[in-house]
Amino acid sequence: MTSTSHTVRLIWDSGHIDTIDVPVGKTILEAAILAGCVVPFECRWGSCAKCTGHLLTGDVVHTSPPRVLRKEHLIANYVLLCVAEPISDCSIEVGDHFKDSLSTVSRDSITSTTSPPLSPAFGWKSQRENP
Ligand code: FES
Repeated sequence: MTSTSHTVRLIWDSGHIDTIDVPVGKTILEAAILAGCVVPFECRWGSCAKCTGHLLTGDVVHTSPPRVLRKEHLIANYVLLCVAEPISDCSIEVGDHFKDSLSTVSRDSITSTTSPPLSPAFGWKSQRENP
């Protein structure tokens, strides 16, 4: 049986947690706005980083290119809520400061010699091409 939505927990610095249902085919940002969550965003197409979050649990897929994220950001589980759709229930840290923290993530900051398994959040893939 295929799920028609996934539960996403948006975790704020304050400790507040917004729990939203994200229907299949909607981005996390779209669902958050519909639910009345005040998530930072600007461009809505993956280029400004304003909606950056940090994926703690679960998996997402970027359905359009996450233009502003480099490979090292994806390895560190940063996601862009405006172009990310959950493919499982997820927990994501959110807040204005994640945009700024991208500049502190570099290839050098990834010290593991064995890369973690690739998450669907890597790169991007159109779900329409991969039903
Ligand atoms: S709103 Fe600009 S990258 Fe998401």
